[in-house]
Amino acid sequence: MTTRAVVKGIGHYLPERVVENAWFEDRLDTSDEWIRARSGIERRHFAAEGETTSDLATHAARAALDDAGLAADDIDAIILATSTPDLTFPSAATMVQSALGMTRGFAFDLQAVCAGFIYALSTANAMILSGQARRILVIGAETFSRILDWEDRSTCVLFGDGAGALVLAAEDGAGTPQDRGILAVDLNSDGRHRDLLYVDGGVSTGTTGLVRMQGNQVFRHAIEKLAATAETALARAGLQDDDVDWIVPHQANIRIIQGTAKRMKHSMDRVVVTVQDHGNTSAASIPLALSVGRARGQIKRGDLLVTEAIGGGLAWGAVVLRW
Ligand code: ACO
Repeated sequence: MTTRAVVKGIGHYLPERVVENAWFEDRLDTSDEWIRARSGIERRHFAAEGETTSDLATHAARAALDDAGLAADDIDAIILATSTPDLTFPSAATMVQSALGMTRGFAFDLQAVCAGFIYALSTANAMILSGQARRILVIGAETFSRILDWEDRSTCVLFGDGAGALVLAAEDGAGTPQDRGILAVDLNSDGRHRDLLYVDGGVSTGTTGLVRMQGNQVFRHAIEKLAATAETALARAGLQDDDVDWIVPHQANIRIIQGTAKRMKHSMDRVVVTVQDHGNTSAASIPLALSVGRARGQIKRGDLLVTEAIGGGLAWGAVVLRW
């Protein structure tokens, strides 16, 4: 008998305002054709004035709790992956805790940029396996629209806002790859590449700063590293590419998603793709894709999923889980 962290409920939230690629054509030297061809993105959601990351996260958290049939006080902890918290501190997670009316347990933010949700799943899994918590709300939420340079066509067309959340809970498993829940994790970072993707502000500058990215360099690392981390995590679980029902990738660029699937010899009809509708929502992209994939009827109980991401740091990793 072994303990597994099993998904009990999932939900997401997207801000009301939808911005099509054409919106950028009036403001920048760009086109719908370029954005679609280079990134696969067609539209994205942007938060309303005054709408914060913790607001989006709270909506997604409520949806996940409803789906799990649980109340806020049934939860032991909230882990919120974000690079765009409402304030430098306190954590956006404590704001969600208060908005949910949760009066027990603990809440904290975790920051690993686009790989944030993978790191959050890994952290939640470790806490559940160690017995520190039995039920954890794991959220990815971002308002990247607040840190975009609207004059930089190479970044501002790529990102969007949104949130996704899931409830992980301890359950007994047999200790085999047939168990439901998280089966294996692989995490990596390499700070030598921190200049490829960063925000040029923060506590040291006294400003919030804006996203700066050498997109083609990040692209090269993504193609090289994502299939490798997914395959490492699968091997740790005693599984291989053939066993995977669904790849649920970080949604940054359709060409990266296709390149990773190809390396894993996996056809695109078993890959959950939402990048066309959401853009890159950083730490929110994987829980959004999981939630949308489940709602579309793609992801079903018992399916084997591998989810992977790379982002600023560089930080990257993968999680293998059975739904
Ligand atoms: N419209 C028109 N032309 C553009 C635009 C635009 N919006 N943006 C850039 N271009 C131009 C460039 O200026 C360049 O022109 P030049 O050749 O005259 O210099 C040309 O298009 C090609 O630029 P590249 O950057 O080489 O284009 P590429 O094919 O690499 O596509 C993209 C760019 C979409 C950014 C891609 O590199 C990418 O997706 N990179 C990865 C991003 C990513 O995965 N990020 C994940 C992590 S995000 C996080 O952690 C927060």
